[in-house]
Amino acid sequence: MTVTKKVAVTGAAGQIAYSMLWRIADGAVFGDDVPVELQLLEIPDAMRAVEGVAMELADSAFPLLKKITISDKPEVAFEGANSAFLVGAKPRSKGEERSDLLAANGRIFGPQGRALNDHAADDIRILVVGNPANTNALIAQSNAPDLPASRFNAMMRLDHNRALSQLARKLDIVTTDIKQMVVWGNHSATQFPDITYATANGTPITALVDEDWYTREFIPKVAKRGSEIIEVRGKSSAASAASAAVDHMRDWIYGTAEWSTAAVPSDGSYGIDEGLIAGFPTIAVDGQWQIIPDLRLHPHQRERIEATAAELRAEREAVKNLLG
Ligand SMILES: NC(=O)c1ccc[n+]([C@@H]2O[C@H](COP(=O)([O-])OP(=O)(O)OC[C@H]3O[C@@H](n4cnc5c(N)ncnc54)[C@H](O)[C@@H]3O)[C@@H](O)[C@H]2O)c1
Repeated sequence: MTVTKKVAVTGAAGQIAYSMLWRIADGAVFGDDVPVELQLLEIPDAMRAVEGVAMELADSAFPLLKKITISDKPEVAFEGANSAFLVGAKPRSKGEERSDLLAANGRIFGPQGRALNDHAADDIRILVVGNPANTNALIAQSNAPDLPASRFNAMMRLDHNRALSQLARKLDIVTTDIKQMVVWGNHSATQFPDITYATANGTPITALVDEDWYTREFIPKVAKRGSEIIEVRGKSSAASAASAAVDHMRDWIYGTAEWSTAAVPSDGSYGIDEGLIAGFPTIAVDGQWQIIPDLRLHPHQRERIEATAAELRAEREAVKNLLG
């Protein structure tokens, strides 16, 4: 008999969840033979809205969706959860400093980390999507002393997918022709989409694109794609973020031999301080992400990786009183 998986989603009345929940309920994370229960968390003011989301999910009559729970209490939403998507976060208000935003989110992710620690299932995997995702994940992880740090990831898969899409377009190929792409560091403008190891149908991509396009067009395009989407669509990325979250969780659970980018707790490699949750080149084996070891870094790569690591370090410093 297939065991039902409990999936917690925070920010469940928001726009990312409105795409993601339907994918999860249709088997996109655990597979089309694994029943799921959805445990939705929202703030008290959004309980009515999330009730509406639950009604629509029920109306979709998914064969795999066995139960929907809604709550404004993390301990209820995380009870027995096998996987958790932490999407809900406090958006930046006008005139607010980044440090205020970090602190406001810390007050969300600290208690959620503790609730995960005390209530989730032993095999819990947590993907933080809500921004600033890497440092929110660090705060949650540091407040969950009984869970292995490796169970806390932040989402860089959207950045990775954006990089694949830009390269595929430039080279007139499909994204699956591209291997060994990575986006290092923080999910922010300092991220480093790095083509040094990437290939297109076996040919090094560095031999197919010129340096000027890479540094002046590609890197900023990928790093600032979120702002471009807001400008064009009038709202922030939602369906693409949901799709990337599904990609990340599915690959984490079921494994992938292909390189992907996951923001995982650093083991200290490549000059990124141990413990910071940063985008690395990874593969997933036996339900665990492994950082690709022993890559040779050129000075220009070191410089960009150091810049994004420095930002993560500064964010950690700004929230140090919130770390458990
Ligand atoms: N990592 C990435 O690649 C990536 C990409 C896109 C968006 N994001 C981030 O994802 C987050 C969600 O985006 P969205 O477009 O769905 O936003 P949204 O504003 O549509 O929805 C957010 C929801 O979270 C809820 N929420 C706020 N605090 C909460 C809490 N403490 N507990 C539970 N729910 C809470 C809000 O009530 C709201 O319904 C944002 O922080 C956004 O910046 C990350």
